[in-house]
Amino acid sequence: MKITKGIILAGGNGSRLYPLTLGTSKQLLPVYDKPMIYYPLSILIQAGIIEILVITTKTDINKFKTLLGDGTNLGIKIQYEIQAQPNGIAESFLIGENFIGSNNVCLILGDNIFHGDNFFKYIKKAQKNLHDGYSSIFGVEVDNPENFGVINLDNNNKLLRIAEKPKNPKSSLIVSGIYFYTNDVVNISKSLNLSSRGEKEITDINNYYISKKKLKLNLLDKSISWIDTGTYSS
Ligand code: TTP
Repeated sequence: MKITKGIILAGGNGSRLYPLTLGTSKQLLPVYDKPMIYYPLSILIQAGIIEILVITTKTDINKFKTLLGDGTNLGIKIQYEIQAQPNGIAESFLIGENFIGSNNVCLILGDNIFHGDNFFKYIKKAQKNLHDGYSSIFGVEVDNPENFGVINLDNNNKLLRIAEKPKNPKSSLIVSGIYFYTNDVVNISKSLNLSSRGEKEITDINNYYISKKKLKLNLLDKSISWIDTGTYSS
Protein backbone atom coordinates (compact mmCIF):
# COMPACT_ATOMS: atom_id res chain seq x y z
CA MET A 1 0.00 0.00 0.00
CA LYS A 2 1.18 3.52 -0.81
CA ILE A 3 1.76 5.89 2.08
CA THR A 4 2.16 9.67 1.81
CA LYS A 5 5.70 10.80 2.43
CA GLY A 6 6.49 14.41 3.30
CA ILE A 7 9.04 16.82 1.88
CA ILE A 8 9.85 20.19 3.44
CA LEU A 9 11.67 22.40 0.95
CA ALA A 10 13.82 24.72 3.01
CA GLY A 11 16.58 25.99 0.74
CA GLY A 12 16.46 29.11 -1.40
CA ASN A 13 18.27 32.43 -1.08
CA GLY A 14 15.82 34.36 1.06
CA SER A 15 17.14 37.45 -0.72
CA ARG A 16 14.04 39.53 0.07
CA LEU A 17 14.94 39.21 3.76
CA TYR A 18 18.57 40.34 3.41
CA PRO A 19 20.55 41.03 5.58
CA LEU A 20 18.78 38.67 8.05
CA THR A 21 19.27 35.70 5.73
CA LEU A 22 22.86 36.37 4.70
CA GLY A 23 24.20 34.35 7.63
CA THR A 24 21.38 31.86 8.14
CA SER A 25 18.48 30.11 6.47
CA LYS A 26 15.14 31.92 6.28
CA GLN A 27 13.49 28.76 7.61
CA LEU A 28 15.56 28.94 10.82
CA LEU A 29 14.48 32.49 11.68
CA PRO A 30 12.20 32.80 14.70
CA VAL A 31 8.45 33.10 14.22
CA TYR A 32 7.14 33.98 17.69
CA ASP A 33 8.92 31.38 19.87
CA LYS A 34 9.96 28.75 17.35
CA PRO A 35 12.19 28.40 14.29
CA MET A 36 10.05 28.83 11.16
CA ILE A 37 10.47 25.22 10.00
CA TYR A 38 8.55 23.97 13.07
CA TYR A 39 5.33 25.24 11.49
CA PRO A 40 5.42 23.23 8.23
CA LEU A 41 6.82 20.29 10.18
CA SER A 42 3.87 20.32 12.57
CA ILE A 43 1.43 20.45 9.63
CA LEU A 44 2.96 17.24 8.24
CA ILE A 45 2.84 15.57 11.64
CA GLN A 46 -0.81 16.57 12.07
CA ALA A 47 -1.48 15.08 8.65
CA GLY A 48 -0.16 11.77 9.96
CA ILE A 49 2.93 11.98 7.74
CA ILE A 50 5.84 10.56 9.68
CA GLU A 51 8.51 9.96 7.04
CA ILE A 52 9.89 13.35 6.18
CA LEU A 53 12.69 14.64 3.96
CA VAL A 54 14.13 18.09 4.63
CA ILE A 55 15.79 19.60 1.55
CA THR A 56 18.05 22.55 2.17
CA THR A 57 21.35 24.12 1.15
CA LYS A 58 24.85 22.76 1.65
CA THR A 59 25.58 25.68 3.99
CA ASP A 60 22.55 25.13 6.21
CA ILE A 61 22.05 21.36 6.29
CA ASN A 62 24.02 20.81 9.48
CA LYS A 63 22.05 23.49 11.34
CA PHE A 64 18.80 21.70 10.47
CA LYS A 65 20.30 18.38 11.58
CA THR A 66 21.29 19.93 14.90
CA LEU A 67 17.79 21.36 15.36
CA LEU A 68 15.66 18.38 14.33
CA GLY A 69 17.96 15.34 14.41
CA ASP A 70 16.53 12.12 13.00
CA GLY A 71 13.07 12.86 14.41
CA THR A 72 13.08 10.02 16.96
CA ASN A 73 12.17 12.32 19.84
CA LEU A 74 9.07 13.41 17.88
CA GLY A 75 8.12 9.87 16.88
CA ILE A 76 8.92 10.53 13.22
CA LYS A 77 11.76 9.80 10.78
CA ILE A 78 13.61 12.75 9.27
CA GLN A 79 16.13 12.51 6.45
CA TYR A 80 18.08 15.29 4.76
CA GLU A 81 19.20 16.15 1.23
CA ILE A 82 21.01 19.12 -0.29
CA GLN A 83 19.71 21.26 -3.14
CA ALA A 84 22.91 22.58 -4.71
CA GLN A 85 21.23 25.68 -6.19
CA PRO A 86 17.69 27.05 -5.97
CA ASN A 87 16.75 25.36 -9.25
CA GLY A 88 13.04 25.48 -8.60
CA ILE A 89 10.43 24.00 -6.29
CA ALA A 90 9.74 21.08 -8.62
CA GLU A 91 13.36 19.91 -8.29
CA SER A 92 12.27 18.54 -4.87
CA PHE A 93 10.87 15.45 -6.55
CA LEU A 94 14.14 14.72 -8.35
CA ILE A 95 16.20 15.22 -5.21
CA GLY A 96 13.63 13.15 -3.30
CA GLU A 97 13.20 10.41 -5.89
CA ASN A 98 14.69 7.59 -3.78
CA PHE A 99 12.99 8.85 -0.64
CA ILE A 100 9.57 8.90 -2.34
CA GLY A 101 10.07 5.45 -3.89
CA SER A 102 6.69 4.09 -4.96
CA ASN A 103 4.70 6.30 -2.57
CA ASN A 104 2.66 9.49 -2.83
CA VAL A 105 4.10 12.73 -1.56
CA CYS A 106 3.11 15.92 0.21
CA LEU A 107 5.42 18.87 -0.43
CA ILE A 108 5.31 21.86 1.89
CA LEU A 109 7.44 24.97 1.55
CA GLY A 110 9.57 25.70 4.59
CA ASP A 111 8.45 29.32 4.71
CA ASN A 112 4.69 28.72 4.58
CA ILE A 113 2.59 28.92 7.74
CA PHE A 114 -0.96 27.56 7.86
CA HIS A 115 -3.07 28.09 10.93
CA GLY A 116 -6.64 27.19 11.78
CA ASP A 117 -8.59 24.36 13.40
CA ASN A 118 -10.29 23.56 10.11
CA PHE A 119 -7.07 23.00 8.19
CA PHE A 120 -7.00 19.34 9.11
CA LYS A 121 -10.31 18.88 7.28
CA TYR A 122 -8.64 20.04 4.03
CA ILE A 123 -5.68 17.74 4.55
CA LYS A 124 -7.97 14.76 5.02
CA LYS A 125 -9.67 15.63 1.74
CA ALA A 126 -6.30 15.79 -0.04
CA GLN A 127 -5.34 12.39 1.38
CA LYS A 128 -8.64 10.96 0.13
CA ASN A 129 -7.99 12.50 -3.30
CA LEU A 130 -4.61 10.71 -3.42
CA HIS A 131 -6.36 7.48 -2.57
CA ASP A 132 -8.66 8.10 -5.56
CA GLY A 133 -5.70 8.91 -7.85
CA TYR A 134 -5.94 12.73 -7.76
CA SER A 135 -3.37 15.31 -6.72
CA SER A 136 -4.41 18.43 -4.76
CA ILE A 137 -3.47 22.07 -4.45
CA PHE A 138 -4.73 24.56 -1.88
CA GLY A 139 -6.05 27.92 -3.08
CA VAL A 140 -6.22 31.17 -1.11
CA GLU A 141 -7.44 34.69 -1.90
CA VAL A 142 -4.73 37.37 -1.65
CA ASP A 143 -4.29 41.09 -2.40
CA ASN A 144 -1.07 40.59 -4.40
CA PRO A 145 -1.75 37.64 -6.72
CA GLU A 146 0.89 38.79 -9.23
CA ASN A 147 3.58 37.40 -6.88
CA PHE A 148 2.24 33.83 -6.97
CA GLY A 149 0.80 31.12 -9.19
CA VAL A 150 -2.61 32.55 -10.10
CA ILE A 151 -5.54 30.17 -10.54
CA ASN A 152 -7.88 30.64 -13.50
CA LEU A 153 -11.27 28.95 -13.13
CA ASP A 154 -14.06 28.52 -15.65
CA ASN A 155 -17.67 29.58 -14.96
CA ASN A 156 -18.30 26.32 -13.12
CA ASN A 157 -15.31 26.83 -10.83
CA LYS A 158 -13.31 24.13 -12.65
CA LEU A 159 -9.54 24.53 -12.90
CA LEU A 160 -8.48 25.92 -16.29
CA ARG A 161 -4.86 26.90 -15.85
CA ILE A 162 -2.34 28.34 -13.42
CA ALA A 163 -0.30 31.35 -14.48
CA GLU A 164 3.07 31.83 -12.77
CA LYS A 165 3.49 35.41 -11.49
CA PRO A 166 1.42 37.01 -14.30
CA LYS A 167 1.62 40.79 -14.86
CA ASN A 168 -2.18 40.95 -15.22
CA PRO A 169 -3.66 38.31 -12.91
CA LYS A 170 -7.06 36.98 -13.96
CA SER A 171 -8.12 36.37 -10.35
CA SER A 172 -6.99 36.97 -6.78
CA LEU A 173 -6.93 33.24 -6.11
CA ILE A 174 -3.45 31.77 -5.80
CA VAL A 175 -1.74 28.44 -5.10
CA SER A 176 -0.36 28.20 -1.56
CA GLY A 177 2.76 26.23 -0.60
CA ILE A 178 1.37 22.81 0.24
CA TYR A 179 0.80 20.21 -2.47
CA PHE A 180 -0.26 16.56 -2.45
CA TYR A 181 0.89 14.56 -5.47
CA THR A 182 0.47 11.05 -6.75
CA ASN A 183 3.67 9.08 -7.32
CA ASP A 184 3.92 10.02 -11.01
CA VAL A 185 5.08 13.51 -9.94
CA VAL A 186 8.66 12.20 -10.01
CA ASN A 187 8.49 11.31 -13.71
CA ILE A 188 6.57 14.48 -14.53
CA SER A 189 9.36 16.55 -12.92
CA LYS A 190 11.97 14.70 -14.93
CA SER A 191 10.19 15.55 -18.16
CA LEU A 192 9.86 19.29 -17.41
CA ASN A 193 11.90 21.80 -19.35
CA LEU A 194 13.51 24.62 -17.40
CA SER A 195 11.48 27.84 -17.41
CA SER A 196 12.77 31.15 -18.74
CA ARG A 197 14.12 31.90 -15.24
CA GLY A 198 16.02 28.58 -15.35
CA GLU A 199 13.87 26.69 -12.82
CA LYS A 200 11.84 23.50 -12.65
CA GLU A 201 8.47 25.13 -12.00
CA ILE A 202 5.82 23.72 -9.68
CA THR A 203 3.27 25.59 -11.82
CA ASP A 204 4.24 23.41 -14.81
CA ILE A 205 3.54 20.32 -12.72
CA ASN A 206 0.15 21.67 -11.68
CA ASN A 207 -0.74 22.56 -15.28
CA TYR A 208 0.27 19.07 -16.38
CA TYR A 209 -2.13 17.53 -13.84
CA ILE A 210 -4.88 19.97 -14.92
CA SER A 211 -4.40 18.91 -18.55
CA LYS A 212 -4.90 15.28 -17.48
CA LYS A 213 -7.91 16.24 -15.30
CA LYS A 214 -6.09 14.86 -12.27
CA LEU A 215 -5.82 17.95 -10.08
CA LYS A 216 -8.29 18.95 -7.36
CA LEU A 217 -8.48 22.42 -5.89
CA ASN A 218 -9.05 22.79 -2.16
CA LEU A 219 -10.20 26.36 -1.50
CA LEU A 220 -9.19 27.43 1.98
CA ASP A 221 -11.95 29.29 3.80
CA LYS A 222 -11.47 32.45 5.84
CA SER A 223 -10.98 30.50 9.09
CA ILE A 224 -7.53 29.43 7.86
CA SER A 225 -4.70 31.93 8.05
CA TRP A 226 -1.94 31.48 5.55
CA ILE A 227 1.35 33.37 5.59
CA ASP A 228 4.12 33.21 3.04
CA THR A 229 6.89 34.61 5.23
CA GLY A 230 9.10 35.63 2.31
CA THR A 231 8.97 39.38 2.84
CA TYR A 232 9.13 41.71 5.84
CA SER A 233 5.60 42.96 5.28
CA SER A 234 4.06 39.48 5.03
P1 TTP B 1 10.95 31.77 -2.57
O1 TTP B 1 10.38 32.63 -1.49
O2 TTP B 1 10.36 31.84 -3.91
O3 TTP B 1 12.51 32.01 -2.71
P2 TTP B 1 13.58 32.32 -1.59
O4 TTP B 1 13.22 31.67 -0.29
O5 TTP B 1 14.92 31.98 -2.15
O6 TTP B 1 13.45 33.89 -1.32
P3 TTP B 1 13.82 35.16 -2.23
O7 TTP B 1 12.88 35.13 -3.42
O8 TTP B 1 13.53 36.30 -1.29
O9 TTP B 1 15.27 35.09 -2.61
O10 TTP B 1 10.89 30.24 -2.10
C1 TTP B 1 9.77 29.71 -1.47
C2 TTP B 1 10.20 28.58 -0.57
O11 TTP B 1 10.75 27.51 -1.33
C3 TTP B 1 11.24 28.93 0.45
O12 TTP B 1 10.96 28.16 1.62
C4 TTP B 1 12.54 28.48 -0.17
C5 TTP B 1 12.11 27.29 -1.00
N1 TTP B 1 12.84 27.10 -2.25
C6 TTP B 1 13.89 26.19 -2.27
O13 TTP B 1 14.25 25.61 -1.24
N2 TTP B 1 14.51 25.93 -3.45
C7 TTP B 1 14.16 26.53 -4.62
O14 TTP B 1 14.75 26.24 -5.68
C8 TTP B 1 13.09 27.50 -4.57
C9 TTP B 1 12.67 28.21 -5.82
C10 TTP B 1 12.46 27.75 -3.38
